Amino acid sequence: MSLGDLWQALLPVGRHPATGGYHRFSWTEEDAACRNWFARAAGQRDMRVEQDRNSNLWAWWDTAEPDSAPAIATGSHLDSVPAGGAFDGPLGVASGFAAIDLLREGGFTPARPIAVAAFAEEEGGRFGVACLGSRLLTGAIDPQAARELRDRSGVTLARAMAEAGCDPSVIGPDDAVLGRLAAYVELHIEQGRALADLGAPVAVGERIWPHGRWRLDFTGAADHAGTAGLAGRRDPMLAFAHTVLAARESAGRAGGLATIGRVVAEPGAVNAVSARISAWLDARAPDTDTLTGLVEGVLSGARDAASSNRVGCAAHRESLSEAVVFDPVLRDRVSRALSGAGIAAPALPTGAGHDAGILAARLPTAMLFVRNPTGVSHSPAEHASMADCEAGVVALAAVLADLAGGTGQGGTAGQ
Ligand code: GLV
Ligand code: MN
Ligand code: MN
Repeated sequence: MSLGDLWQALLPVGRHPATGGYHRFSWTEEDAACRNWFARAAGQRDMRVEQDRNSNLWAWWDTAEPDSAPAIATGSHLDSVPAGGAFDGPLGVASGFAAIDLLREGGFTPARPIAVAAFAEEEGGRFGVACLGSRLLTGAIDPQAARELRDRSGVTLARAMAEAGCDPSVIGPDDAVLGRLAAYVELHIEQGRALADLGAPVAVGERIWPHGRWRLDFTGAADHAGTAGLAGRRDPMLAFAHTVLAARESAGRAGGLATIGRVVAEPGAVNAVSARISAWLDARAPDTDTLTGLVEGVLSGARDAASSNRVGCAAHRESLSEAVVFDPVLRDRVSRALSGAGIAAPALPTGAGHDAGILAARLPTAMLFVRNPTGVSHSPAEHASMADCEAGVVALAAVLADLAGGTGQGGTAGQ
């Protein structure tokens, strides 16, 4: 089965008929459909499927010897941001299965198991914490704090998991799963347009910028839009508006990025001053000190604006992903495997977060990026050509063959 067949089977799941945007939130019906797709893809390849304690999926190409060396894993995630694109996440999972097809067509037999993984709630699109499945797996988040996370309707993670047939009482660090892995290589659509400018279909990840999410709550006093005089109002919307501008200014000054992409006004009446505004800040920068300074600039702008408008202001950090430099030994090996297969792949940093970044705290990880001609991502306009995606599969197959070792034509599969 080709990458195209895998892709076509997944494409309709969670796609909004009018906008084309994807809504694949964790532990929902759409998520179940994505998981069924994963199980079918694994079944068609005689791969054993496991769901770990944290709802992450694993499909195993086992070796004949039960006690072979630890596995090489690949994969990505199947969940999306609200109104997201088709490629962010699913491309890595589908490419994992397609790379295995290519290796088998070349008669390759691995010396180590090869696994394809799909990590749960990578985008934090439902519960707000990015890379939740890999954070739980590696112990980067307290399981009780995770169980208490709430979605936009107030449903806790514990309840969402239970309703989807998963046991929330067992989530948390899982050394048994991690102990079976020697390395993880994630293929992902590029989320900028560096590769388009370099004229190459595939790149090797070099590092991930540190980034995080903060919730800002501005509390004022609700009042009548037609009778409350401007001077007497305690309007949290004004403090919020100043904060949006402070974020833009602070990011520009620091050479980083700041985005406020979600805001909730309560009670949300057109004809009333808001009682409360909650806004979510996403901030990223090339290094930790710059990120810290950038966020401090936004928060001090928010506090000043709150005090001059006589409203309250509280900031709460919802997640932080430290800077990641991918394991240099593994990265060199990936680059060598690609050159050996005749693939010239430049090294690229990224401002986007990935499970490979979270897993890097526990095992060597690497990334491959596939060209995205417009650079647009987290939008229905996200795109990569099928030819480039297939070039990504060939590259991934060469890397898996090299890392897993074995017999047969792995390194040149599909060439
Ligand atoms: C995930 O794509 C992120 O960087 O937010
Ligand atoms: Mn994403
Ligand atoms: Mn992603």
